[in-house]
Amino acid sequence: MNDNMVQRLAHYLSATETRSGEAIGEELGCSRTAVWKYVEALRNLGIEINAVAGQGYRLREPLELLDRDRILAGLNPPGGAGLRNLLIEASLDSTNSALQRLPLARQHATAIFAEHQSQGRGRRGRQWYSPYGKNLYLSLGWKFEKSLSELGCLPLVVALAAAQALQRAGLEGHGVKWPNDLLIGGRKVCGCLVEVQGDSQGPCHAVLGVGINVHMPVSRQTEHIDQPWTDLHSHLPGFSRNALAVLLLEELIVQLSKFDEQGFAPFGEPWEQADVLYGQSIDVQSATGSIRGTAVGIDEMGALRLDTGQEVLKLHSGEVSLHKTKL
Ligand code: BTN
Repeated sequence: MNDNMVQRLAHYLSATETRSGEAIGEELGCSRTAVWKYVEALRNLGIEINAVAGQGYRLREPLELLDRDRILAGLNPPGGAGLRNLLIEASLDSTNSALQRLPLARQHATAIFAEHQSQGRGRRGRQWYSPYGKNLYLSLGWKFEKSLSELGCLPLVVALAAAQALQRAGLEGHGVKWPNDLLIGGRKVCGCLVEVQGDSQGPCHAVLGVGINVHMPVSRQTEHIDQPWTDLHSHLPGFSRNALAVLLLEELIVQLSKFDEQGFAPFGEPWEQADVLYGQSIDVQSATGSIRGTAVGIDEMGALRLDTGQEVLKLHSGEVSLHKTKL
């Protein structure tokens, strides 16, 4: 299917007026049969389109598509100045994978948003459900003159940047769950997938993937999401996806630049403020098995500190689940 035509159709329909098949055909420069195919393609992406007899097509709900010019115009320095390239795609397998397919020299400070991901990737081989035109799926490339071991805390920096973007959007009551989930009331609103390649001595190239549930349409697919989730719309109804895209880009660039210059030290306190696990009884699933204890913050490298009663362990990777749900 021609993604560009489907995207143009979505833009043309994005207001809630009814558009006749003829008008759509003229706008897109295609036949009525092709219009019907593109309408079906958009429906297959999860967009509800009503066909009004004798009148044409109309979106069931207005759609705010990402707008490159609007995002670029909204970016303030220094975040905006640090961005080298901004791409907005209709549909990709995964924005992280698409960025990784670019030559390394073009990845730094390139940001890719997609309206839809067919194979959105989460941590630990999970899928990231990515319906069209509703949430944010962003990957940003960043080159660090640091060694691989210095980048262990990068996922935490990315989560704090996303948390700050949501705070600037006006959200309250969200926090970070080690290593890089954002939760509201115990439900996940944002996940980050940080993938790094490079030399043990540096430099390293990182792809920082962030998915934010902005206005997730409830569907059969959402029933299969294997952890409690929420979206921004449930807490800040109608917040603009373009405005959030601007805040997210700005915060990522500002916080990554700070991490580049000063390392992880300035992030310790913001993490403490936002840490939803502190003092909670948790289970951590790691390669060597499951360990139970009380979360007691992070160390200066971003490792999770887990008090088992006998000792305080420092865990560099693992999947946390709450032993007692108190979040
Ligand atoms: C997680 O919590 O498991 C991480 C989810 C990360 C999802 C984002 S969406 C943009 C980027 N592209 C991907 O395929 N994944 C990340």
